[in-house]
Amino acid sequence: MIKAYAALEAKGKLTAWEYEPGELGRHDVEIDVDYCGICHSDLSMLHNEWGMSSFPLVAGHEVVGRVAAVGADVKHLQQGQVVGLGWHSDYCKVCSSCGSGDQNLCSTAEGTIVGRHGGFAEKVRANASAVIPLPKGMDAKTAGPLFCGGITVFNPMVQFDVKPTDKVAVIGIGGLGHIGLQFLRAWGCEVTAFTSSESKHDEVKKLGAHHVLNSRDPQAIQDAARRFDLLLSTVNVKLVWNTYLGTLKPRGRLHMVGATLEPLDISVFNLMGAQRSLSSSPVGSPATIAKMLDFSALHHLDPIVETFPMEKINEALAHLAAGKAHYRVVLTR
Ligand SMILES: NC(=O)c1ccc[n+]([C@@H]2O[C@H](COP(=O)([O-])OP(=O)(O)OC[C@H]3O[C@@H](n4cnc5c(N)ncnc54)[C@H](OP(=O)(O)O)[C@@H]3O)[C@@H](O)[C@H]2O)c1
Ligand SMILES: [Zn+2]
Ligand SMILES: [Zn+2]
Repeated sequence: MIKAYAALEAKGKLTAWEYEPGELGRHDVEIDVDYCGICHSDLSMLHNEWGMSSFPLVAGHEVVGRVAAVGADVKHLQQGQVVGLGWHSDYCKVCSSCGSGDQNLCSTAEGTIVGRHGGFAEKVRANASAVIPLPKGMDAKTAGPLFCGGITVFNPMVQFDVKPTDKVAVIGIGGLGHIGLQFLRAWGCEVTAFTSSESKHDEVKKLGAHHVLNSRDPQAIQDAARRFDLLLSTVNVKLVWNTYLGTLKPRGRLHMVGATLEPLDISVFNLMGAQRSLSSSPVGSPATIAKMLDFSALHHLDPIVETFPMEKINEALAHLAAGKAHYRVVLTR
């Protein structure tokens, strides 16, 4: 039996709960969870905001731990190795997306917490293709958030060939955004943080932002007209998107990784006149995750975490839900 913390219904408190994982699959890995970050997507899944949660639900998809056991056909991972697991826990491996290295775009990729049980537990299982070793010297305590929050902001930098001469703005400086600022600064970009929190102004500069603007001040946004090559939105709320589009240079891109549920109200003319683009993407492929881990290790970029013992999981979730996380909550075992 695997001991875990599960929600028995949408919006329900998490309680101690056990499940029988069955025999370990030939291509699977069992991980002893040491740390698990709490992503805003865990909250959305626990509240069934996206209509795809099944209960009892064991959330948690920013896992770092040690390999406890490997299936008979797993050759590249060994017992005791320190590894991480993010949003995806398996891919079909045969579709054209998988074949071209875009496993994160595989239509039948399995989510670690979608129809299976995640990392708010003593152990978690996944297909070996989704389990990535930590680079030597990386701090396991702070590495978990890289596996979802980190890869989600790193992937667009790779996909859209962001250049060191680009001017990039991150909208929303929470779990994802605070890692994005660090990555973009190390990448060489001129970095702007859009935040709604006055209290974060000084700290975002330490995280790498050259400039800070208020994400909810239409005038400040308007004053930044035609400034950015890329806007990376990590918020899950509606902002004045048409005004934001005006801050993009010709050929600029507004890329949304935050799961804003409200439909977008976008003026095509704001895109057309300057050939601007609007796009979105899910996490990143295993190869891009490994690339991001190496980049983080080389530049000593670590998520800023607050730790809670796993038994205090309900307090930890409430802390995040109240917008108090500084900047990522990580559960420890
Ligand atoms: N695309 C993907 O694959 C992927 C992967 C992971 C997460 N996500 C999604 O990304 C989003 C962010 O996740 P997260 O873990 O970074 O969440 P988070 O830590 O809660 O950060 C979200 C940030 O958004 C800003 N924000 C929140 N409410 C706001 C409001 N009313 N007005 C303006 N700004 C507001 C805040 O930043 P300021 O204080 O700076 O304003 C907040 O810190 C979620 O929707 C999550 O589901 C997507
Ligand atoms: Zn596939
Ligand atoms: Zn996540």
